[in-house]
Amino acid sequence: MRTWVQSVHDFGHAHLLKFWNELGPEERNHLAGQIQSIDFQELADLFAGVEKAIDWTELSNKAIAPAAIRLNDPNPKYSMDDARECGEKAIRDGKIGMILVAGGQGTRLGFDLPKGMFRIGPVSNRSLFAMHADSLRGAMRRYSVSIPLYVMTSPATDLQTREYFSQHQSLGLNKGELIVFCQGTMPAIDASTGKVLMDSSSNIALSPDGHGGIVSALDRQGILKSASDRGIEHFFYAQVDNPLVRACDPLLIGYHLLSKSQLTTQVVKKRFGREKVGNVVSLDGRTHIIEYSDLPDEAADRTNADGELSLWAGNIAVHAMELNFLAASAKNADGLPFHRARKAVPFLNDEGIVEKTSSPNAIKFERFVFDLLPLADRTMVVEGDAADVFAPVKNAEGALTDTPTTSQNAVVAQHKRWLEQSGVSVSPSVKVEINPHWALDAEEVRMKIQRSSSILVDTYFA
Ligand code: UTP
Repeated sequence: MRTWVQSVHDFGHAHLLKFWNELGPEERNHLAGQIQSIDFQELADLFAGVEKAIDWTELSNKAIAPAAIRLNDPNPKYSMDDARECGEKAIRDGKIGMILVAGGQGTRLGFDLPKGMFRIGPVSNRSLFAMHADSLRGAMRRYSVSIPLYVMTSPATDLQTREYFSQHQSLGLNKGELIVFCQGTMPAIDASTGKVLMDSSSNIALSPDGHGGIVSALDRQGILKSASDRGIEHFFYAQVDNPLVRACDPLLIGYHLLSKSQLTTQVVKKRFGREKVGNVVSLDGRTHIIEYSDLPDEAADRTNADGELSLWAGNIAVHAMELNFLAASAKNADGLPFHRARKAVPFLNDEGIVEKTSSPNAIKFERFVFDLLPLADRTMVVEGDAADVFAPVKNAEGALTDTPTTSQNAVVAQHKRWLEQSGVSVSPSVKVEINPHWALDAEEVRMKIQRSSSILVDTYFA
């Protein structure tokens, strides 16, 4: 069998050991460990692009809209009341856990700390982590149950995330309700030579292996087993950058359970064909996501006889997932393909100096959680109203969409709607924010607020 040193040479990565003689014992150990965890054959294959090229035009021509629970469907397969009741019962019975993925590097936002620590509360100035924790505590209060929160970090965010939770008393979550676990990594390679990049003489430039890395991370770290031992049967999954997510949304969980789905996806109706969201589609009877960058314009713009977009369903990365399905998928985690992204990555040059570049010199490899969809035999797609479910923080201030301001505006607008539906008048220039621990939805606001009151200054209901 090849030793790791042989592999390094055989696969053309001898540069990784160029400064070996200058390293101390700890640095050598660290570097050797990193090298041993790399599958050089896999990297060579990924660089060579030996995986089957996909003909997106052909696929998109075959793609049709997925079967879905639509908003305002006059003949819904399941009634909203039945779904909500079913979801609420599963939550009360302790069968639901929440997964929050927070391992991304948040490059577009340009925030140096983990994105979950970004302050987004329009009046409260709460962080994204705090908004999710409050939302989950709101659900625990309503359903009188303890719900575990599983936060996925990456080496880029792990330490600061753990410190943040510990400095903030786990944001009100009780012992055992917060489980932080770290995803795996993939080496970045030089885009023109395929060589593994280093960012110091003893460290390989590793980046998180994508949100799809969750499947193997959950399995490897025994989380599927411990969750199952505590009675969890399904997870509610969300991304840390969307503060409009309602933690453990009982309606989504209810539709997921009633349809016996293994993997359920919440979608919103695309505003226009070429909108930059993943397209949830059905292909040969399986659910897939075609990324906007892969969808040819003709397919993106295609309409039905009624003038509606044929491929209308935009992915917002909120899912309900059956634990057993994740466990089965983990056995086959290599089945999730890697996607490549060209990125600018600082690297150690031949002289041993770290070079920073603004051009995309490197290829990073990521797995995507939605590639689980075609592996599931039973899926469900549920439409939500974007104004109530989707306001991600992706870009820095100044961009047209998905900025801190657009996200905050969406939170304020939702909470204003809830207050106004209760007969409260809110001055147009005023910001309002409702902590889910105070009220989880419009109904609860109605029970708590005095009708006919007026709000004239920025107000935080907590
Ligand atoms: P994005 O794809 O938006 O990436 O992640 P990002 O890292 O937040 O931002 P950019 O692209 O660098 O600007 C969507 C969600 O998936 C999580 C992120 O934390 C975010 O909640 N994610 C992403 C992971 O948990 N791990 C990853 O490897 C990538």
